[in-house]
Parts: sequence; structure tokens; C-alpha cells
Amino acid sequence: MDELIIHGGRPLRGTIVLSGSKNATLPILMASVLTAEPVMLSNVPRLGDVRTALALLGTLGVEHEWLGEHELRLCAARILSHEAPYDLVKTMRASFVVLGPLLARARKARVATPGGCAIGARPVNLHVSGVRALGARIQLRHGYFEARAERLTGARIWLDSPSVGATENIMMAGALARGRTVIENAAREPEVCDLAAMLTAMGAQIYGAGTHVIEIEGVERLHGAQHRIIADRIEAGSMMAAAAITGGEVSISNAPVEQLEAVIAKLKEAGVEISSENGGLRVAARGQLRPVELRTLPYPGFPTDLQAQMMALLARARGTSVINETVFENRFMHAPELCRMGADILVKGATAIVRGVAQLSGAQVMATDLRASMGLVLAGLAAENETQVSRVYHLDRGYEALERKLAAVGAQIERLKDDSAE
Ligand code: UD1
Repeated sequence: MDELIIHGGRPLRGTIVLSGSKNATLPILMASVLTAEPVMLSNVPRLGDVRTALALLGTLGVEHEWLGEHELRLCAARILSHEAPYDLVKTMRASFVVLGPLLARARKARVATPGGCAIGARPVNLHVSGVRALGARIQLRHGYFEARAERLTGARIWLDSPSVGATENIMMAGALARGRTVIENAAREPEVCDLAAMLTAMGAQIYGAGTHVIEIEGVERLHGAQHRIIADRIEAGSMMAAAAITGGEVSISNAPVEQLEAVIAKLKEAGVEISSENGGLRVAARGQLRPVELRTLPYPGFPTDLQAQMMALLARARGTSVINETVFENRFMHAPELCRMGADILVKGATAIVRGVAQLSGAQVMATDLRASMGLVLAGLAAENETQVSRVYHLDRGYEALERKLAAVGAQIERLKDDSAE
């Protein structure tokens, strides 16, 4: 397995360009199942998770072709299989979002249950009850959800919690259903809006994406479309934290400023200087950071996907910060690793108490998930001496060209390739 070797203590300076959003791309790839005509996507990030999604689509009979570094053409002229196999769903939980499109187009779907994951139980009950409300007969057999429906029928669906994946699954199923589907307590994430924009370009009638109530007027068929994926707000927040933790000054030329309000507010509270600049952001940190109290929430609250990165940053603030994780029940796995680098963090249930220390020290660390790994990379950028981050495949799932982007703004970071895996 590859490792990243980081020599910390260098302030980052320069300009970073964000890649396309991973979390917008994955459901949009699944949306290609909804039409027999080709769809063209641009600004698609080259990531491990995108490769997994394309592999899954390939097993269903969806063909794809890269037309450029970030341009992709997909065509689901014929659906050859209606099964999402376990090995692909367990590798990437977002695969479960193929359930709705497959059911809507092929009238049947067999999708493996993802099981638990490193950050929590992550059930799929809301996805399942959603498609059942649309008239699907669905049952769990041998580790797979097996679903059938003649044509789905629109319904009013209340989500107990505003699940991003369930909202996306139901939106795609409802797009081809008979009549109107209303999702109440829908997720408001920008990635849900990007999927709605893609579906609208394909001929769907969707209203209210970005609010708590999304209405979908089902249509008989969808057609091909072109769509440009939005910039990755989580990469933006990660890079803002990288600039801040190193005491550097970085411009993020295509930062989606309006999607980052909660993040900008917390970073400013911590003493980071942030200003708008030519449609992007400039981030600078001088002197000691201040502690903050932080609670992760569904959008537009502070994203759980930036909690680990914020914890790394606050580990060096002057004073005690409190982080409350309300979205996932087990998302502090990075805390003990940060402590191995000299951080002072106490975790009690869903709360982490972070007492800032003057200096972090490089160490060998490993992480259990994508964003936790990024927290460790950030700590390594600020720590004295060398940090080795193992299990880089987590980072490769969701950050495009991470070490190249960081090195371009002055980080001393390199990848140690493990050739034995080849
Ligand atoms: C998406 C993001 C992920 C992010 C998360 C929360 C993608 C590909 N992934 O994941 O990066 O961390 O949103 O912002 O977009 N829940 C249920 N029942 C369900 C579904 C969810 O109880 O059927 C719960 C989950 O356990 C969790 C909460 O709802 O506690 C939020 O999960 P959800 O919004 O569904 O996250 P994902 O779509 O899996």
C-alpha cells in the first residue's frame, strides 16, 4: 500500500484549483442509467470512487469513454444486468444510489446491502422505505435488496432525517414515476442540487432542490444531456485548513464561496483571514489560532466531511475547542492518531475536547476513512519532522492529485509507491 511522506513546517503559498465534486459526481454517474441516450459530463474528478462507480455501471451494461482528462461520455443504451454486486457496494456505499435509477428504468433491481462502515452503522432504511412508498416491492434476501415494480407511482415521502443518499435515490426513482413525488425533510446539500440540475437537463421536472421540500413531476422518459459537475466544497475546506494550519496564504481560485458559509464563519472565528477574490477565496493565517466550539450538521451547517480537518487545525489553537459530531456516531477515529502526533484530544461519546498544543510532532499514522486521512495529512503539514501517512488509498478515493496540488503550493510531500501490489 502506498504511503505519503510529509516534512512539515512549510507555510503553503500559491493558488489551488479545485477538482469537480466527488459527492456530486457519484449520483450523477448513476443517473446515466435513467436514459438510453448518451450523457456527457465535464469537470469529472479522476478518483478511486469514480473508478468504482464506472465499474459498477459497467456490470449493468453502461458504457463509458473518457473524451478528455475530465470529460466523460456514458451510454446506457441497454441495461444488461440489474444487479449491484456486494464487492462494489461494500467498497463504496454510494453505489447503493443505483437502486432508484435501476428500478425506474429496468423495473427491477438487486442491490447488495452495504453493511456498516468505519464511521457508523449507516443504515439504508430511508432509501428502502422511499422506493417502497413509490410502489416497489422490495425485500432483503441473502444480503441483497431485491426490488420490483411495474411503473413506480409518485408519493409523498417524509424522511426521518435529511439523508443525502436517500434524497438522491428517491429523486431519481421519482423522475420516471407516474405522477408527483414529494420529498419532505429532503437533504439540502449542493450535491443534491447538482443532481437535480443534471436530471432537469435530461428532461426531468424537479422543483425545490436546495430546500426541505423537493417535488418531482414524473415523466415518461428522459433523454441525453450535457452537464458540468460543480467544484468540490469539501476539497475547498480541506485546502483552506491546509493554508491555515501551516500559517500560509493560499488562493482557491474556483472556491464555491456561497456553499462554504458555515466553514468560513468557523475558520474566521478561529482567527483565519478569509477574503473573496476574483470569484474565489484567499485564505491566510498569521499568528496563533483561537479555539472554537463546533457542531457538525446537515447542510447548510458545518459539514461532517470537514470535521477531521478542523480537529487537526484546532489541535494547534491556543486554548480548548469543543467539537460535537451529530451526523455520524463513530467519526472520531482520527483523534487517537492525532494524539500520536502530540495532540491533546479527549473523546467522550459524540464530543471531542481539543486542547491546543504549541507543536505537533511527525509520526507514523494511519487512518480508517477518507476525511480522517486528510486530517492526518494536515497535521503532518504543520508538524515538525517527518510524518508517514499509510493507507493512502482512502485519500485516493476522494482527493484528486492531492500531493501534486499540495506540493505545487510549497508542501514537502511525496508518495512512496508500494510496488508489491502491482
Ligand atoms: C453523504 C456523503 C458523505 C457525507 C454524508 C453526510 C456522498 C456520496 N456521501 O453520505 O460524504 O458524510 O452525506 O453529509 O454524497 N441515515 C439513516 N438511514 C438512511 C440513510 C441515512 O438513518 O437510510 C443516517 C445516517 O446513518 C447518518 C445520516 O442519516 O447518520 C446522514 O447520512 P446520509 O446523509 O444518508 O449520508 P450519505 O448519503 O451516506
